[in-house]
Amino acid sequence: MSNPSLLILPGDGIGPEVMAEVRKIIDWFGAKRGVTFDVSEDLVGGCAYDKHGTPLHDATMAKAQEVDAVLLGAVGGPKYDTLDFSVKPERGLLRLRKEMDLYANLRPAQCFDALADFSSLKKDVVAGLDIMIVRELTSGVYFGEPRGIFKEGNERVGINTQRYTESEIERVARSAFELARRRGNRVCSMEKANVMESGVLWREVVQKIHDAEYPDVELSHMYADAGAMQLTRWPKQFDVIVTDNLFGDLLSDLAAMLTGSLGMLPSASLGAPMANGRPKALYEPVHGSAPDIAGQGKANPIACILSFAMALRYSFDMGDDATRVEKAVEQVLADGVRTADLMGPEGGKPVSTSEMGDKILAALDASL
Ligand code: IPM
Ligand code: MG
Repeated sequence: MSNPSLLILPGDGIGPEVMAEVRKIIDWFGAKRGVTFDVSEDLVGGCAYDKHGTPLHDATMAKAQEVDAVLLGAVGGPKYDTLDFSVKPERGLLRLRKEMDLYANLRPAQCFDALADFSSLKKDVVAGLDIMIVRELTSGVYFGEPRGIFKEGNERVGINTQRYTESEIERVARSAFELARRRGNRVCSMEKANVMESGVLWREVVQKIHDAEYPDVELSHMYADAGAMQLTRWPKQFDVIVTDNLFGDLLSDLAAMLTGSLGMLPSASLGAPMANGRPKALYEPVHGSAPDIAGQGKANPIACILSFAMALRYSFDMGDDATRVEKAVEQVLADGVRTADLMGPEGGKPVSTSEMGDKILAALDASL
C-alpha cells in the first residue's frame, strides 16, 4: 500500500513557523513509529497571491483534491486588507472548503487543566470542559446567492442570502450524531427558528434524522442567541453542538475563548468519503495568522500540532497515536512549559515556538 499523503499549506503570518513544528512531529512518526507520510508543500493565502496573483492556484486546488489530507497553517495579514474581495487571502481558504465540499467542521473546545486559570470565566465553570462544535461549512450565508452590493434607487444595498437545502442539513446532522455516539451521546442543535425559515427547516430536518437514524442519542434544540448565553453561563451542559456556518463561526470563537487558550485549539473539516474510504479532509488551527508576532519565534505551535493529531484520528485511523500526541501536549503543559501567549501573571520565561516543538517531541519519545 502506498504511504498516506499530506499536502501542507503553511500560509501567512505565523503559519510557516507553527507548521515547521508539525513537520518535526511528522518526521518523528516516520523515524519512531514506522509511519511515513508523503508530504508535499504549497502556497495558500497572501503568499500565493504575491506569487500567482490568486490566493489559491488551480494546481494547488487540484493537489488538495488528490491527497489523503490537507494541513493548513493560517492565512491573511494587514498587507492584504485593501485587496479586492475576490483575491483576499481568505478566499483561498473558502475555495478549499467549498470545492472539497468539507461540510462538517469539527471544532473541539477543551480546557487543559494546566490552563484553567487563563479563562475569563471562573475556574469551576471551565475546568474539565470538553465540548465539540460541529459547524456546517459549505453553505448558508457564506455562499448563498444572491449576494453582492447593488444599486437600489439612490443608495446601495448589501445583500447576502442564508440558504440551506434539506440534504445539506441532513449530512451535517449525521456527522454530529455519529460523533456524539463516540463521546457523551448528546447533541444540541442551534438555529434561529423563531425568526428564520432556514432555521425552521434546520430544526425539522435535524429532528427527522434523529428520530429515524439516531434515536439513541439525546437531542435538544436551542435558539443560537440563547445558546451563546448558555455557553458562557454553564458550558459543561453541552457535549456536541451542531449549527450552521455563520452561527458556528461565532459560537466556536466564543467556545474557544472559554477555554482560555485560543492558541491551543485545532479543527478538522471533513467531507464525503473518497474512493479509499477516507473522508476528504482539511485540518487547521482555529487561530489566525497573528501578523503582529509573525517571524519572531513567539507563536504557540500547539493548535497546529493538535490539528495534526486530529488528522491521525479522523483521516488515518490512528486514534491511539492521536491520543499519544495529545497526551504529550498535556504533559508538556503540566511541566510548566509555556509559550508567550500562555504566560500568566506569575511571569517566568516563555519558550520559543521551536523549543515548544522540541519539548513535545521529547514527551513523545518518553511515551514509547
Ligand atoms: C474561521 C474564520 C474564517 C471564517 C475566515 C478566515 C474566512 O473566521 O475559520 O472561523 O469566517 O470561516
Ligand atoms: Mg471564525
